[in-house]
Amino acid sequence: MFNFCFQNPTKIIFGKEQIATLTNNIPKNSKVLLLYGAGSIKRNGVYQQVSQALSDFSWLEFSGIEPNPSFETLMQAADLVRREKIDFLLAVGGGSVIDGAKFIAAAAVFEGDAWQILAEGAKVTSAIPLGCVLTLPATGSESNGNSVVTRYETQQKLGFSSPLVYPQFAILDPSVTFSLPTKQVANGVVDAFVHVIEQYLTYPVNAAVQDRFAEGLLQTLIEQGPLALTEPENYDVRANIMWAATMALNGLIGQGVPQDWATHMIGHELTACYGLDHAQTLAIILPALLQQQREQKRAKLLQYGRRVWQLSYSNEEQVIDEAIALTKAFFQQMGVATQLSDYKLGAAAIAAVEAKLVQHNMLKLGEHGDITPQIAKQILQQAL
Ligand code: NZQ
Ligand code: ZN
Repeated sequence: MFNFCFQNPTKIIFGKEQIATLTNNIPKNSKVLLLYGAGSIKRNGVYQQVSQALSDFSWLEFSGIEPNPSFETLMQAADLVRREKIDFLLAVGGGSVIDGAKFIAAAAVFEGDAWQILAEGAKVTSAIPLGCVLTLPATGSESNGNSVVTRYETQQKLGFSSPLVYPQFAILDPSVTFSLPTKQVANGVVDAFVHVIEQYLTYPVNAAVQDRFAEGLLQTLIEQGPLALTEPENYDVRANIMWAATMALNGLIGQGVPQDWATHMIGHELTACYGLDHAQTLAIILPALLQQQREQKRAKLLQYGRRVWQLSYSNEEQVIDEAIALTKAFFQQMGVATQLSDYKLGAAAIAAVEAKLVQHNMLKLGEHGDITPQIAKQILQQAL
């Protein structure tokens, strides 16, 4: 196991009717900016619960944060934060709203052009404090320091990370996920699943705790994900998915182990160029990437096949083939298509992604740094 230093400062408040606890978790006398998306929170009762809990605070709201939040919109919110001297941000939504809040938190107090935070990795030295109410289990953004922002005019989807933008608290009430469209339930399960894989399916470093935690999360998602589609009103299923998605990317299982993230980086380019949902890009890329990297990932692919999918063949190639096939079938069972052609994309898209990876200096992806734009192209060709 590699050395590590782990601190996750986000307080998790989990369960039914917990949105009311906002009142006690936002610092007293804060001037709050409520951030949200296109308005799903007004249709499912979350907005009403939040505004009730904010009744003793001075607060304003900013809506319209898009799925794959846009730099332009977030900069408008950052201006509002400065003008109104806001001192606490409350994000209510999925990963896009929470990621957006993190960028606003950093951009509002950044000296210079805030695009540099994303494009040049400019260091974030201060940020407005934030908290969140999660409405879509998927990204883990509710308890990590990551944010991904898209600049539509240049088709660039870029991220930043900072310990200063961890939410101070995250309220996770699984009942607010009942109103999710089926497609978003499926996307969330696939995204969380791939987050675990990115930190687990690399090469062994004798990290027994991380491996067993990761395998438990994968099996939970494999078992509970389809149930969320067939029993959409089952609270316990929603609760298990919500907690699994948070645990998948709150830093815990990634400590002391090599990490991959190539599927995500290639996927971000597909979203930036063609607007595919984040999880759709992962469902296309991951099975093809595992196939392409089967020698480098051999030991972990065997472990994954045997422990997660309970495969008992003595022939190793058969275990690996079947593990990859079952992964792909799981995404399809969730209703997320796994081929580029399912999204009407072909050779032109592959060339565009390869060029974008070069433009963004994504030249050595993966846990060994051996996934070049050329290899990414081969991976995408296998996913046609
Ligand atoms: O805009 P609203 O009205 O809120 O509707 C949203 C949106 O249309 C809707 N929704 C959310 N909760 C709902 C609901 N509809 C009904 N009922 C509810 N309870 O769902 C749609 C999608 O929301 P979005 O926030 O975009 O989805 P998700 O949570 O999947 O976030 C995706 C974004 O997160 C980034 C992705 O790249 C993408 O930009 N990621 C962030 C990560 C992180 N911070 O660590 C890691 C991930 O790998 C990912 O890159
Ligand atoms: Zn993801």
